[in-house]
Amino acid sequence: MEERTLILVKPDGVQRGLIGEIIGRFERRGLKLIGMKFIHMSQELAETHYGIHKERPFYSDLINYIRSGPVVAMVWTGKNAVEAARGTIGATNPVAASAGTIRGDLGMEIGRNLVHGSDSPENGIKEAGYFFAESELVDWNRDLDSWIRE
Ligand code: RTP
Ligand code: MG
Repeated sequence: MEERTLILVKPDGVQRGLIGEIIGRFERRGLKLIGMKFIHMSQELAETHYGIHKERPFYSDLINYIRSGPVVAMVWTGKNAVEAARGTIGATNPVAASAGTIRGDLGMEIGRNLVHGSDSPENGIKEAGYFFAESELVDWNRDLDSWIRE
C-alpha cells in the first residue's frame, strides 16, 4: 500500500476561509488526494484521534478546539507522503514554524495551528482508518504523475 497521511483542516482554518488555501498547498506540492469529507468530529472520534495526548495538560483544550466547528478530513498519498506533508505544514507552534509553511505563513498560536498531519507512516494508515472506510478512498490515475514522480 502506498504511504498515506491523514490531513485535517482544523476548525480555525475552516472559519477563517482558508480551506482552499490549505488544500492548494498539498495539491501543488504533488501529493495525491484519495479521500475527503467535511464533518463535525464526534467526541468519540476526537478522543480516538488524539488518544496519544490523553495524559497531556492541554488534552481537554485540544478536544474542545478540534470539536469547536467542522473540519475538512482528507487522505493524501505519495512516496514519503507523511514527511512531505509535515514539511508543508511546519512546526507545531506557528511562531516557530518556518515562513513558507502553512503554520508559519498563516498561524500565531499553538492551540490554533490550522492543520493536522499524521506523524508516521504507521499512524497515517491508522488515522485514515479512523475517518474513512476503505470503500470511501478512491483509487484513481492522475495524468500529471509522470511529471511529479520519477
Ligand atoms: P497535529 O498532531 O495536530 O498535526 O500537531 P503536531 O503533530 O505538530 O503536534 P502534537 O504534538 O501531535 O500535538 C497535537 C496538537 O496539540 C496541540 N498542542 N498544544 N499547549 C501545548 O503545549 C500544545 N502542544 C500541542 C496543538 O494544537 C497540536 O497541533
Ligand atoms: Mg501530532
